[in-house]
Amino acid sequence: AAPLKTQAAAHHLLFGFALNVRQLRESESYRRLVLEQSSIAVAENAMKWSALRPAPDQYFFDDADFLVQFGEQNRIKLRGHNLCWHEQLPKWFDATANGANARTLLTEHIRTVAGRYAGRIHSWDVVNEAVEPRDGRPDGLRNSPWLRLIGETYLELAFRTARQADPTALLTYNDYDIEDESPYQAEKRAAVLRMLRRLKQRNVPIDAVGIQSHISAGTGHRYGASLQQFILSCREMDLEVFVTELDVDDRELPKQVAERDAGVAEAYRQYLDVVLREPNVRAVLTWGVDDAQSWLSGKRPRADGVPQRPLLWDAQFRPKKAVSAVEQAFVEA
Ligand code: G3I
Repeated sequence: AAPLKTQAAAHHLLFGFALNVRQLRESESYRRLVLEQSSIAVAENAMKWSALRPAPDQYFFDDADFLVQFGEQNRIKLRGHNLCWHEQLPKWFDATANGANARTLLTEHIRTVAGRYAGRIHSWDVVNEAVEPRDGRPDGLRNSPWLRLIGETYLELAFRTARQADPTALLTYNDYDIEDESPYQAEKRAAVLRMLRRLKQRNVPIDAVGIQSHISAGTGHRYGASLQQFILSCREMDLEVFVTELDVDDRELPKQVAERDAGVAEAYRQYLDVVLREPNVRAVLTWGVDDAQSWLSGKRPRADGVPQRPLLWDAQFRPKKAVSAVEQAFVEA
């Protein structure tokens, strides 16, 4: 079969992966698969604050530079992930950041990082995961360090600074738990849309929404009308949509590999069938290349202790059923 990037391109979509830079440097099979299959990529960790900022006055760009060069040399577009998040802040952050210097910390970081790669990045996740209804605020915003130190204007500060630093990248708001039909996710979708509308009303430069898409199989969840409505609401605000971190948690599926791979494939298919119907969806990236590297086995371990099988290729880089499921979804999009 044709590579996924080719199937995707026929329907004006980009396809790719979150990449582990160490594997990209060290593994020939990993690199070969990435080159063969993808037209877009993102660093799984290499562009986060914790990776780029070993000390307050020091930047480490080796891995991020490597990835950006790899993308350019091979005509793979690069997403930037991310410029402002409550997680994976460096160890020095808590002791250093305060109400007096937080705005400067944030804007200098964005100018330095987005400025370094200006003109070379397809889209930046400028703000990641800023909404959390469980934190109990009326505006639904997450009680993150940035919110506590700067107030809600940190959102527009981040986007405006990013636009100045890199006027060509599509500026993206990226979040999770906005995919399924549960009451909690309905509430979260509503809060995300309210936040986006507030920002748009203030002419904040924001071009796209990233739906992370960490979905699950075997839970009885179907993905459907609410998700489509969310994507449509984004379109009404002139926002493109990217599926930024797709993978399938298989904890609720039986241990047998054949059954599990079938259930995971089915989840990919069902999800993408819904999402790809919407014309403002422009890219699909899975959160990792092969099952061996997935964050899910560490952070969401199965009760039976065997590794999760959430991605499209197995630990030996053999294509799983899910590859043909995604291919079918692209063909029918
Ligand atoms: O780099 C250190 C290493 O020096 C140290 O020896 C090792 C010991 O634990 O930790 C390494 O850092 C780990 C890092 O990944 C790099 O491998 C962290 O512990 C680990 O927590 C971190 O996990 C990442 C996680 O974000 C952090 O919250 C996952 O790989 C990454 O897949 C995950 O990605 C997030 C997206 O950015 C945002 N959306 C959700 C998604 C999944 O959680």
